[in-house]
Amino acid sequence: MELEGKAAIVTGAGRGAGVGIARVMAREGARIAVVDRDFDAAQQVAAALVASGAQALAIRADVSKKADAQAMAEQTQEAFGAIDILVNNAGVGGTASFMRDVTEENWDRVMDVNAKGILFCCQAVLPAMTARGKGKIVNIDSIAGMRMAFFSSVEYTASKHAVTGLTRHLAWELADLRINVNAVCPGGILTPAIETYATPERRAAIVERVVPLGRFCAPEDIGEAVCFLASARADLITGQLLAVDGGALTGYGEDLRAVLRTRVSETRAAAQPQATAAAKSG
Ligand SMILES: NC(=O)c1ccc[n+]([C@@H]2O[C@H](COP(=O)([O-])OP(=O)(O)OC[C@H]3O[C@@H](n4cnc5c(N)ncnc54)[C@H](O)[C@@H]3O)[C@@H](O)[C@H]2O)c1
Repeated sequence: MELEGKAAIVTGAGRGAGVGIARVMAREGARIAVVDRDFDAAQQVAAALVASGAQALAIRADVSKKADAQAMAEQTQEAFGAIDILVNNAGVGGTASFMRDVTEENWDRVMDVNAKGILFCCQAVLPAMTARGKGKIVNIDSIAGMRMAFFSSVEYTASKHAVTGLTRHLAWELADLRINVNAVCPGGILTPAIETYATPERRAAIVERVVPLGRFCAPEDIGEAVCFLASARADLITGQLLAVDGGALTGYGEDLRAVLRTRVSETRAAAQPQATAAAKSG
């Protein structure tokens, strides 16, 4: 098990991607503080982890409030005696679809959680990680932090570029403390959040157009990438963005898929005579 005995905080783990991240980390032996501003949801997830044999506790915290982030770190330290890993997953989407309609209130709401929340949580775990002499921070960014959002509006893209900046900057600042800071950049994840942005038909059409591997991420796909970056296998990796997006960022959507499909049929056609010849001689 890759994270045996490690004490981990996963924010926003009451539903969606955070649940998948918590499950995969628990499978790898980590003790999980399930943090969410929705305490009932956090308690349900923590109870399910405990029922599966893991160690877990639920913590209520709004990551955009500095005092909550501090209390979250204190409760985790008290329960587990350490904080080895922080996964900054809590995040919210934008609402308006065009920049003309973005309100100041919405800009602040998205920035407060997605950007300021990460700063506050990193500040909160710093003493525990410094005392430990090492630590791993994994930020859940987005491919919107590398390019732009598919579903959401400009404040979401801007907030995720802030996550990219926090990741790169803090990787430098915290390197001497042996704290690695990396980000996972998901493409579309099948979570309640994405269901509010697009109907199943629209989602299928988007996958068809832009995801070469042919499906959205499951929450556990994000968990696997987080586990790697939080493990000793990634000790020399810091300041990096790891896209988990079915290949969406590698290409140019529909055009690329059309080209690939032609190449796939050509490859299949070329392989056919060889396979027939091999079958005859074999
Ligand atoms: N769903 C996607 O397609 C997608 C794609 C790329 C990146 N992401 C990112 O993945 C992360 C998780 O997204 P999701 O789709 O699972 O979202 P979600 O809305 O399904 O779940 C988010 C969870 O975070 C909690 N939360 C929100 N604000 C909080 C706060 N201030 N303090 C504490 N908890 C808070 C919510 O209560 C909820 O339980 C986010 O950072 C999101 O930006 C999602």
